[in-house]
Amino acid sequence: MKYASKRVRDIKASSFSDLFAAKEAYSRKTGQSVIDFSIGSSNIPPCDAVKQAIANAVLEDESYQYTLSPQQETLDAIREWYANRYGVELRDEEIFPLKGSQEALSHIPMALCDPGDLVLLPDPCYPIYRTAPSLAGADFYSMPMRRENDYLIDFDEIPEEIARKAKLMIVSYPNNPTGAVANDAFYEKLVEFATRYQILVVHDNAYSELVFSGEPGKSFLAYEGAKEIGVELNSFSKAYSMGGARMAVMVGNKDMIEPYAKLMNTIDFQSFAPIHKGAIAALRESGEFAHEVRDEYARRAEHLIDEFGKAGWNIDPVKATMFVWAPIPDGYEDSSQFLFELLEKSGVLVNAGTSFGEEGKRYVRLALVRSDEEVEEAARRIADSGLFKA
Ligand SMILES: Cc1ncc(COP(=O)(O)O)c(C=O)c1O
Repeated sequence: MKYASKRVRDIKASSFSDLFAAKEAYSRKTGQSVIDFSIGSSNIPPCDAVKQAIANAVLEDESYQYTLSPQQETLDAIREWYANRYGVELRDEEIFPLKGSQEALSHIPMALCDPGDLVLLPDPCYPIYRTAPSLAGADFYSMPMRRENDYLIDFDEIPEEIARKAKLMIVSYPNNPTGAVANDAFYEKLVEFATRYQILVVHDNAYSELVFSGEPGKSFLAYEGAKEIGVELNSFSKAYSMGGARMAVMVGNKDMIEPYAKLMNTIDFQSFAPIHKGAIAALRESGEFAHEVRDEYARRAEHLIDEFGKAGWNIDPVKATMFVWAPIPDGYEDSSQFLFELLEKSGVLVNAGTSFGEEGKRYVRLALVRSDEEVEEAARRIADSGLFKA
């Protein structure tokens, strides 16, 4: 990192690169393959309508011109989606297409916060939530999410002076990594709390389609007063299996979208037009696809929890997302210590809860991206490792 700025030097190395190195070392040493549950990249292909729409648009010459501002067709499709699926009415200036929610989460603090501003973040949380405020020179305060409270943030725990100082808050349910979902009372409290202290809210709704109970996940914007203080990010990566295509959207408060759009229109242009066509096809032509994806993750979660349970690893049922949040056995200092021992003794790779925050100390996260056979093999290896008492 000879020429790196302080800003870049201060970025904590991605846990994924550490895991990748450990995985390579295991395979070299044992000659055995690692069963990798660490990264949540879906292995369910997108539906044919999406692939076809992208393929058609790739052959159009006009797709290769710069797109300087959001296209009306994309805005219309998103508006219809939010109205029909979530009961939320949006105007054009309340919609901004993104190259993934990751990109937005990276830049939002830069667009909305000044150095020294305070951002409230859940703990555990998706790692970019914490990196992005630091890149913008902002500070953050962690709001714990604990099992005894169904992993819901308790706003009453936040000290008054912190609430008064906070400029921005990021919240996300259905939740990665815990798999928790939030109820109406939680969202009502969130809107009330944020309104009382004038805190801007970003609700990351990447998993709204992956709620296993079958009761559809809601939009934060459907709650009264939410649009006055917040935006929602929604992604095509999970429900429509388009993670590699990079398409998401920011919707909601126009005074939050405006500075963000100004920043992004300065840094870059809109994404490749065929990706927008694919997203429109996902919204208008994918039929039951998102439900099939949801049901498949629900089935995988149940299967993994059953199989690992037989190997002595008892894990709570999971309500949503594509992850399982699993407790580590006693006797380890924290989840990163356990993770390396699990890898060494079984060749099973998981993600340390500590990479999501302090509250993840006694948990690891498993992504539901392996075949049934691999899950069964992993369970056999875990049983043989002797790390859990069956
Ligand atoms: C909670 C959460 N937010 C955002 C993202 C990033 O999604 P996208 O592919 O839209 O950038 C992920 C990806 O795993 C995620 O889990």
